[in-house]
Amino acid sequence: MRERRLIAVLIVCTAVAATLLVSTLPISAEKEEPPPPFYNPYPPGILPADLPQEIDRVRREVRSIEAEALAEWQALTPPTLTGQPPILANTGMRANQLLGKLMNFDEHMSPFENRACGFCHMPYVGFSGPIPLVNLTMVAYPGSYAFRAGKRTAQRYTYAPNFPVLNFNETQKAFFGGNFWDSRATGYLLGSPDANQAQGPPVDTQEHALPDTACIAFRLTTAAYRPLFETVWGAGSLDIKFPPNTEEICETPGGLRCSERTPCQFG
Ligand code: HEC
Repeated sequence: MRERRLIAVLIVCTAVAATLLVSTLPISAEKEEPPPPFYNPYPPGILPADLPQEIDRVRREVRSIEAEALAEWQALTPPTLTGQPPILANTGMRANQLLGKLMNFDEHMSPFENRACGFCHMPYVGFSGPIPLVNLTMVAYPGSYAFRAGKRTAQRYTYAPNFPVLNFNETQKAFFGGNFWDSRATGYLLGSPDANQAQGPPVDTQEHALPDTACIAFRLTTAAYRPLFETVWGAGSLDIKFPPNTEEICETPGGLRCSERTPCQFG
């Protein structure tokens, strides 16, 4: 009898302890800084009424494509590193493609871990923006800091790597090449407009809003697909000693600290 009572007391104690543990979890999660309030300086009628729901929908789609890419990578027979100069034989090309897909749909590449490149460049709309009412109203897509947005619509970019360095064609008396609507990613410095362009979105405060492109490398160090990155780019390619406050810097849009006392101010 006494034994049974002891067991009952033990069960109650365990249940209480478990409840306490579970109920403290949200408290510790609350310590996380809440996202800043919506930035909405726009006149009424500019932001579509269904914007928050549509952003959620596209984010769900982005995450499902990311999950698909993760599964595809896990099912892939790893390529073989061979030869001199070394190449990734057999599945090397596929590994490279999957790394691109994983990075393109990775939401961690933004301060609030809510914006992937694919958000504005979705495959099912020709790699442009997939929110009908945004296309009919504000045109530009809100970036990581809701609802900060640029001025232009997202380009359908599958052809972007094929553009030559910006040049003036004497015969046709017109400019050709470069990336972006205005060709400002000329490619003069890097020999490739697309490589020039790629340095833009991660640190554009109206897009991914990271304070530094190094934050991409930092976020890759904790990515689930880090081993794939190291297969493609070489062992040790992510062995970087980041300062201890790197996360704090990278989770701050544009490198600014926003708080109630010092609200975020842009531009
Ligand atoms: C918030 C929306 C948004 C996000 C996120 C975004 N882009 Fe874009 N992208 C745009 C817009 C808008 C343009 C056109 C900008 C301009 O002309 O000034 C563009 C242009 C481009 C172009 C140029 C295409 C051409 O033909 O010249 C490429 C390539 C591109 N983006 C790739 C990316 C990559 C890679 C990422 C992720 C690192 C990314 N984008 C994230 C909106 C976005």
